[in-house]
Amino acid sequence: MSVTRVLALLVAAALVAAAPARVGAAGACAAERFSKNRVYAACTDLPTLGASVHWTYDPAASSLSVAFVAAPPSSGGWVAWGLNPSGDGMSGTQALVASPTGSGGAYGVQTFDIQGTSLGSPGPIAYKTSDLAAEVGADGRVQMFGKLALQNGTGEVNQVWQVGPASGGSIGIHAMAAANMGAKGKLNLVTGATTAVSGGSILRKKNTHGILNAVSWGILLPMGGIVARYLKTFKSADPAWFYLHVACQLIGYAVGVSGWATGIHLGNLSKGITYSLHRNIGIAVFALGTVQVDDLHIPNSSLYHLLKLKHFCAMPVA
Ligand code: HEM
Repeated sequence: MSVTRVLALLVAAALVAAAPARVGAAGACAAERFSKNRVYAACTDLPTLGASVHWTYDPAASSLSVAFVAAPPSSGGWVAWGLNPSGDGMSGTQALVASPTGSGGAYGVQTFDIQGTSLGSPGPIAYKTSDLAAEVGADGRVQMFGKLALQNGTGEVNQVWQVGPASGGSIGIHAMAAANMGAKGKLNLVTGATTAVSGGSILRKKNTHGILNAVSWGILLPMGGIVARYLKTFKSADPAWFYLHVACQLIGYAVGVSGWATGIHLGNLSKGITYSLHRNIGIAVFALGTVQVDDLHIPNSSLYHLLKLKHFCAMPVA
C-alpha cells in the first residue's frame, strides 16, 4: 500500500473516531430533563468531571437562569458551579454549592465568595441570586438550579465547577486529580461556545517543577558524581572526565535552581496551604546541593575543615 493511501486511511480513521464523540457530547446534555418544567435554551457538556451546564440568558435584563448537573465523587457529596469575574481558577469564584442539608438526602444550595484555596463561609456573592434549589436526579447526579443577575453587557464568562465529598453537613476538600484541576473554562452565554482553560496553568507549572527537579537532582547531579568517581580511574579519560563532571554539575545545579524557583513560585500561589514535608525536603536538598557546589569544591573553606569532608569525586574507589 502506498504512503498516500496509508495517510488517507489514517485521516479517515481519525475523522470517524472524532465524529461520534462530538455528536455524543452535544446529545448528552440535551437529553437531560428537569423537574418543575424547568427548560433551558442552551446546554453544554463540560470537558471534565462528567458535568454539564444548562442556561437561558436574557442579555437585555442580564439575567442568567442556570442548571448545573454533576455526580459527586460519592453519594451525599457536594457539587459546585460558579463564575469567576476576576480570574480563571478557584480563587475569586462566585460559587453556588449544592450539598446535603440533613440526613434525609435533601440538597440545599449556598453561595460562597471564594478567596484563595479555602471555601470560607457561605454568604452573599457578587451577583444577586434567586430561585436557588438542588435535587438528586433519577441517574443519581445532583442537579443545581439558580438565577443570577449579571452585569450589563456580559457575554463571555469564566466558569468554574467542582465536585467533592461531604459528611455530617460539612463540605470536604475535593480531589486534586487532573479532572478536578482542569474544571474551569470560558463560556459564551450568547453563542454557547465553551473553551477549556488551556492545560491548567498551575498544573503546567507543577509539571515543570517536577521535571526540572527530576532532571537536576535525579539525573544530572548524580551522573556528574558517577563520572568523577568512576571515569577518573581511567587514564585515557583524563581530562575529559573532569570537563564532563563540571558540565553535569553546573548544568544540573542551574536546572535545580530553576526547579527550586518554580517550587517557591508554586508555594506563593497556593495561599493558605503548605505541603510541609515536600517543602522541607526541597529546602534541605537545595541547601545541601548549594553547600556541595559552593563549599566542598574549595579545599580551604571553613565547612571543608569543619566537617572534614572530602569531595565525593576525590574518594578512592573501593
Ligand atoms: C472544601 C472546599 C475547597 C477546598 C479546601 C479547596 C482547595 C483547593 C486546593 C488546595 C486547590 C489546589 C490549588 C493549587 O494547587 O494551587 C484547589 C484547586 C481548585 N479548586 Fe478548590 N477547594 C474547595 C472548593 C472548591 C469549589 C467549591 C470549587 C468550584 C466552585 C473549586 C474549584 C477548584 C478548581 C477549578 C481548582 C483548580 C486550580 C485552580 O485553577 O484554581 N474548589 N482547590
